[in-house]
Amino acid sequence: MSFPKDFLWGASSSSAQIEGGYNEDGRGLSIWDVKELNSGTCSFHYASDFYHHYKEDIALMAEMGFKAYRMSISWSRILPNGEGEVNQKGIDFYKDVFKECYKYGIEPIVTIFHFDLPLALQEKYGGWNDRRMIDAYLNYCKVLFENYKDDVKYWLTYNEQNMLIFFGALDMLGGSKTFQSGNTLYNQAHIQNVAQAKAIHLCHEMCPSAKIGPAPNITTSYPKTCNPVDYLAAMNMDDLRNNFYLDALVFGKYPQSVLRYFKMNDITIDVQDGDFECMETCHPDFIGFNCYGNDTTEHLEYYKVDFSDMLNADNRDMSYLMKLMDKPGVGRASQNEYFTKGEDGHSFDPYCIRVTARRLTDRYHLPVIITENGYGRPDVLEEDGNIHDSYRIEHLRETIRQMEIGIEEGANIMGYCPWSAVDLVSTREGISKRYGFIYVDRDEDDEKAKSSQMKRYRKDSFYWYKQVIETNGEKLDMEVR
Ligand code: BG6
Repeated sequence: MSFPKDFLWGASSSSAQIEGGYNEDGRGLSIWDVKELNSGTCSFHYASDFYHHYKEDIALMAEMGFKAYRMSISWSRILPNGEGEVNQKGIDFYKDVFKECYKYGIEPIVTIFHFDLPLALQEKYGGWNDRRMIDAYLNYCKVLFENYKDDVKYWLTYNEQNMLIFFGALDMLGGSKTFQSGNTLYNQAHIQNVAQAKAIHLCHEMCPSAKIGPAPNITTSYPKTCNPVDYLAAMNMDDLRNNFYLDALVFGKYPQSVLRYFKMNDITIDVQDGDFECMETCHPDFIGFNCYGNDTTEHLEYYKVDFSDMLNADNRDMSYLMKLMDKPGVGRASQNEYFTKGEDGHSFDPYCIRVTARRLTDRYHLPVIITENGYGRPDVLEEDGNIHDSYRIEHLRETIRQMEIGIEEGANIMGYCPWSAVDLVSTREGISKRYGFIYVDRDEDDEKAKSSQMKRYRKDSFYWYKQVIETNGEKLDMEVR
């Protein structure tokens, strides 16, 4: 058996996607409360109503044997205007959530910022385009560190900062389908990198026994063929998509190939005195990373890309996301014929964590934790209350199998928190795209959700994951009930 004795088995969520209670107890609005939705999908206003169900949900996580619960704090619940007055009821809510976790020996792993920027900051500063956001973020971190220094041992600075930039030519997650240039985006990234480094310094100062790290979405780029230009494209993609963020944090510098990319694309970063020094000296304690599957990259000649024709495209179409991944002068995303075909026909990459965690261990020499992984699809609640989600079990089982070999090969993985514990609202596809071990009985209708009981049901994967945790990953096969 290769999983360490104290391996952090758990699952993940984010405040905006699970909590609901968007206008309760003094919470301010976030950009997600007002974002433009894909037609037919629910809003984030009521989500899975964790705000009122957290005791029940955490008890269910405990029943599965969770050792950790990766969650996020809603910035707008703590600071309704993003900065300024602190909302005591918000502080108390998360205190209670942590208390409930500890009651069952579950370690909260807390993301400080998971996409849901307070609307007030978006309006005041235009979001992360303005360096004043560094102080706003630090002030928020300070409030959290002050209030939760005795409650939280593991902090995560941002969720998927790199995806906001990498796919950010069209700001899908912020909900404004406007075009953002490379220059705008990479300046945002730099501002975030500096703010993140300062937050790590602050955490080490204020909470010396806590550990803090980032939570980007990291993949490995497989070269499409053994043609050297495809291999180079994969290396460039890795630098632009992943290393740009983690190198800044761990080494305090940006990869040379990205600086070349900036030159080719007329991108100039506004670097101020002390920025790199602050990054170089911040020393994260671990690297959290989300990984849903690795990418495949082929060579793409340099050309100027025009995103205007994609401005109102259906962003649920994967080809649209594939197109956003094309980076002129770097590489083009491609399909991979070697990925595993699942029992329900979906293709997936069970090797993703094994490969990527090994690479991260080699490059950064820090422990890593998987902060997301999983399989979202509609589930069917049967009349007898069962949900037979064998496709999800298969997906996770094969990934865990490979992850275990990765550990044997030297990947320094300290925990696994797939997305998600409880069903929650997808970033763009409503509540119908489900990820949880626990089913939440609601549909896309917000009016109904407002007064719904949102009853919880255990899926087959619930029982399966319970067994995985009980046997510390030894028993992955199971005839589920
Ligand atoms: C991750 C995000 O990228 O993917 C989550 O951190 C998100 O917030 C998850 O929900 C799954 O993506 P989606 O679009 O299916 O919700």
